[in-house]
Amino acid sequence: MKKTLAYIRPYGGKTALALVTKFLGSVAELVLPYVLSHIIDDLIPLKDAAAIYAMGGIMLFFALVALGGNIWANRLSAQVSGAMTHDIRYDLFRKTCYLKCGQVDSVTMPSLISRLTSDTYYVNRMVARTMRMGVRAPILLLGGLLFCFLLDVKLALVLLAVVPFVGAAIFMITRKSVPMYMKVQKSGDNMVRTMQEDITGIRVIKTLSKTEYESQRFADVANNLASTEFKAQRTMSLTNPLTTLILNLGLVCVIIAGAFLSGEPGVITGFLTYFTIVLNAMLGISNIFVILSRGMASASRIESVLDLDETELVEELPAGDENCAVEFRDVSFSYNGKEDNLSAVSFRLGRGQSLGIIGATGSGKTTIINLLMRFYDVSGGAVYVDGRDVRSVPADELRVKFGVVFQSDFLMAASVRENIDYDRGLSDDEIWRAAECAQAKEFIDGLEGGLDYDLAQKAGNLSGGQKQRLLIARALAANPEIIVLDDSSSALDYATDAKLRAALAREYASSAKVIVAQRVSSVKNCDLILVMDDGKISGKGTHEELIESCAEYRAIAETQMGVAE
Ligand SMILES: Nc1ncnc2c1ncn2[C@@H]1O[C@H](COP(=O)(O)OP(=O)(O)OP(=O)(O)O)[C@@H](O)[C@H]1O
Ligand SMILES: [Mg+2]
Repeated sequence: MKKTLAYIRPYGGKTALALVTKFLGSVAELVLPYVLSHIIDDLIPLKDAAAIYAMGGIMLFFALVALGGNIWANRLSAQVSGAMTHDIRYDLFRKTCYLKCGQVDSVTMPSLISRLTSDTYYVNRMVARTMRMGVRAPILLLGGLLFCFLLDVKLALVLLAVVPFVGAAIFMITRKSVPMYMKVQKSGDNMVRTMQEDITGIRVIKTLSKTEYESQRFADVANNLASTEFKAQRTMSLTNPLTTLILNLGLVCVIIAGAFLSGEPGVITGFLTYFTIVLNAMLGISNIFVILSRGMASASRIESVLDLDETELVEELPAGDENCAVEFRDVSFSYNGKEDNLSAVSFRLGRGQSLGIIGATGSGKTTIINLLMRFYDVSGGAVYVDGRDVRSVPADELRVKFGVVFQSDFLMAASVRENIDYDRGLSDDEIWRAAECAQAKEFIDGLEGGLDYDLAQKAGNLSGGQKQRLLIARALAANPEIIVLDDSSSALDYATDAKLRAALAREYASSAKVIVAQRVSSVKNCDLILVMDDGKISGKGTHEELIESCAEYRAIAETQMGVAE
């Protein structure tokens, strides 16, 4: 909570002003019944019209101060809470961008999304309401009681006696509800996840005629959210009626006592008005607790992300072979810290050489790339780039060496130029050179506006093969030292794929290339080919060597290219 509250600090001046105005408005509101009881008890019996008008004028003045003060304070609090929520969202988003892959895996993407959206909303509501009611309600409560004492001490004592009961009820209910709201937010994460999956997978769902099945799956998570929310609300909804009941019982006592103890009608009228004010203040306070419990649950979810340490430790570690662009030395790795997803992986790749990685799905091909780019740290062994352990190179310095197309990469809803350039300030010449090598020039020329052609969201207005070519162009555009293509030519026809490989070898002769592919033809000409099987290297060598020595590779080659090959 501390960290969240610190976001108010830059708006301290406005916050103070809001609190002071709210204070003045609330005090003005409190004075009104007191003046009224004075008019009824002291002025009306005297029939002093001038004095009554004067007092009426004073009442009008206080009413206006109350109105103006409250409106202004509400505006200020909306500004402060809006601005601080903006800051929290910005920091949280930045943090999310910098998180290590393992941290994103453990918090999960849907949960990050709901922390950025609904949790920040609840924090906003908490701050806005607390600034408004947080000053007003206690002042009305304490002031109301104070004026009651001024009017009649004995009656006031009767009223005061019920206040602790109300306080205890609110405390007990709130204590129960905070964990409940934590559960509500968790169910919210589930719903966001299901929704995200359904929207992105809408075509698969339609193709497999699984609309009914998915609707049911969504209904289940939505029902779960509704029922946890219902439970939390049911507990919290006890607060208002319970507060009203206890205070009304107090009111009955006050009226009975008033009948015996106080004869003056003005005092009783004033008292009843203050009683309503005290009642409303109590209800306001209990409402704040409802909003606070939800807001605090959200704040702690946000803070738990902000508190994550995303710095990638850079430490002095022994160097590898300087002549290698990439070297894996007996690398093992596990995503969950239990069973190994990679074990005993070793290979060396010289500058300008190409590495092909082939193997069944789930055999660890992408994992090799994840470790090469240090998205995760190895559990054993070491990964070297240019002879330096990747853990001893600052992240920016390491990643700028790479031009990479990930397996399920993304394009932005922006122009072709912006997608290839990606804010690296590349010239059109550099962009065209990359596009030409990626075999994308021809189709970009055919687009209306060429490089200025706007892509739809997720590049929905391009074909699968066109998307892949743009992604490859983006990877090549900055002339990287190491080019990594993870299964990124699968949508290209054989002839285009062959042209791409030839252009890569010709135009990017000095760059090391790592090519993950399902097709033997895509890796056949590589200087070194790894055949992966269940996280281990089951074959290593050139195409010819592997055809001789690796049964698995031979089997893949035979099914894809015929025995003659
Ligand atoms: N983020 C992750 N968290 C946990 N396990 C993972 C994660 N990513 C991959 N794995 C597991 O690691 C293993 C290797 O995955 P990897 O993505 O490297 O396979 P791959 O060879 O690239 O497969 P494909 O050809 O389907 O892309 C798989 O068993 C997979 O389930
Ligand atoms: Mg993969």
